[in-house]
Amino acid sequence: LKQFLFVNPNEPPMVFSWFPVIGSTITYGMDPPKFFKEQQAKFGDCFSFILLGKKMTVYVGPKGNDFILNGKIRDVCAEDIYTVLTTPVFGKDVVYDCPNSKLMEQKKFMKVALTTEAFRQYVPIIADEVNSYFKRTPDFKGQSGTVNICPKMAQITIFTASHSLQGKVIRDKFDETLADLYHDLDMGFSPANFMLHWAPLPWNNRRDYAQKTVAKIYMDTIKQRRDAGETDAQDIMFHLMKATYKNGVPVPDHEIAHMMIALLMAGQHSSSSTSAWIMLRLASRPDIMEDLYQEQIKALGADLPPLKYEDLAKLPLNQAIVKETLRLHAPIHSIMRAVKQPMPVPGTKYVIPTDHVLMAAPGVSASDEQYFPQPDLWEPHRWEPDHPLTPSIVRNGEDETTETIDYGYGLVSKGTASPYLPFGAGRHRCIGEHFANVQLQTITATIVRQFKFRNVDGSDKVIGTDYASLFSRPLEPANIYWEKRN
Ligand code: HEM
Repeated sequence: LKQFLFVNPNEPPMVFSWFPVIGSTITYGMDPPKFFKEQQAKFGDCFSFILLGKKMTVYVGPKGNDFILNGKIRDVCAEDIYTVLTTPVFGKDVVYDCPNSKLMEQKKFMKVALTTEAFRQYVPIIADEVNSYFKRTPDFKGQSGTVNICPKMAQITIFTASHSLQGKVIRDKFDETLADLYHDLDMGFSPANFMLHWAPLPWNNRRDYAQKTVAKIYMDTIKQRRDAGETDAQDIMFHLMKATYKNGVPVPDHEIAHMMIALLMAGQHSSSSTSAWIMLRLASRPDIMEDLYQEQIKALGADLPPLKYEDLAKLPLNQAIVKETLRLHAPIHSIMRAVKQPMPVPGTKYVIPTDHVLMAAPGVSASDEQYFPQPDLWEPHRWEPDHPLTPSIVRNGEDETTETIDYGYGLVSKGTASPYLPFGAGRHRCIGEHFANVQLQTITATIVRQFKFRNVDGSDKVIGTDYASLFSRPLEPANIYWEKRN
């Protein structure tokens, strides 16, 4: 009770709970966005709550997004929070198992695989993977049927990402051993690992075996490529093999292997959850799926030639599908930072002490009526400049901020005070944003060419969200009815 009775007036208000250590763990864990909104209505944008004995301070809204995501390196720290979870999965000396300055250099190396030139090569690869998946998968034999779309989109995501980002040799290994190993690695991302990292959790042995085995597969591949004297490849592994840190040290092979794991794991959950939401939203709005098909016919011609990177820019509704889905279903609902020194909150009397963890939740402003009219309505057309529901950030041209900043891994748009940040912002901003957009838009455009979807009961209902894992995703089974075009 101490924390509620002896309230420090310079700390944000504390959400009350009868249970000392548990605090608000259960109400937060069941539905984080609902919890944030209820507390925001009571306390305003900045408040604290207890999560498994730890004091968390949430600051929502554009100002909160800016305060946390644009925090200076001397004030906030991501690696102190995330390393218990990510190091056993990715491996040592990369991402959060190294100083932030080293991560910034690693992000720069990884960005080499994420250029326009690379995307030109990726679009046909992704489209071919999607087409071949539907041809060979028994659940899609025949003219129509019903399917739980989530596991299918998870497979499509891993096949398309591994083939495009990591090359055909690694992609082919997913049909043999890699898929199971990555599945075991994934178990390291359970919320229990986050909160109870000191406990001997039963699935951790399999995670550790998988980490060592996957890293060895990558390191053996690196060795084979060095021995073969390859000189002109373009893929990310090859770029990392040639990369050198600012201090002149070439990137060691184990770090290359661990970065390859990180690249695939960092995006897999977010992209797979988003692609499943896209399909579920389309099933709930067959009219939009038809609009998408007509958009392609109009822009690319009735014979629908094979999709190219340049075509994606000609399909604004297809782009808006991804934007609008991420607005309502951003898979990362809570972004956390340790507080390194007391942080005064500008414009308030609050000072956040170092025993609090800061929590940003950009999803709260992305579904706030103040910024997005009729916020709960999934309406991709709202991203057009003159729709009745167009958000003010689009009308005022604030969604594509031109202000940029260099955190060490290349210029990124600053925009930390935006109400719409599904890819985060600041020095930890997602490096996979453009790849994810290309991947999701290509998958959507390819599926729209082949299928019509609807809800099994023909309604416009949408399934609820599963918050039980660290990345939110649709509750399963998420069945949809599919029908092949002609
Ligand atoms: C970081 C979202 C796909 C690589 C982040 C962050 C967000 C995010 C919100 C910031 C986390 C923080 O500040 O603590 C998403 C979403 C995706 C997606 C919504 C897909 C729809 C990808 C993909 C890749 C990727 C495909 C790799 C190709 C990364 C990496 C970081 C990151 C390496 C860590 C950056 C750092 O801490 O400095 N992502 N991501 N992401 N993302 Fe993504």
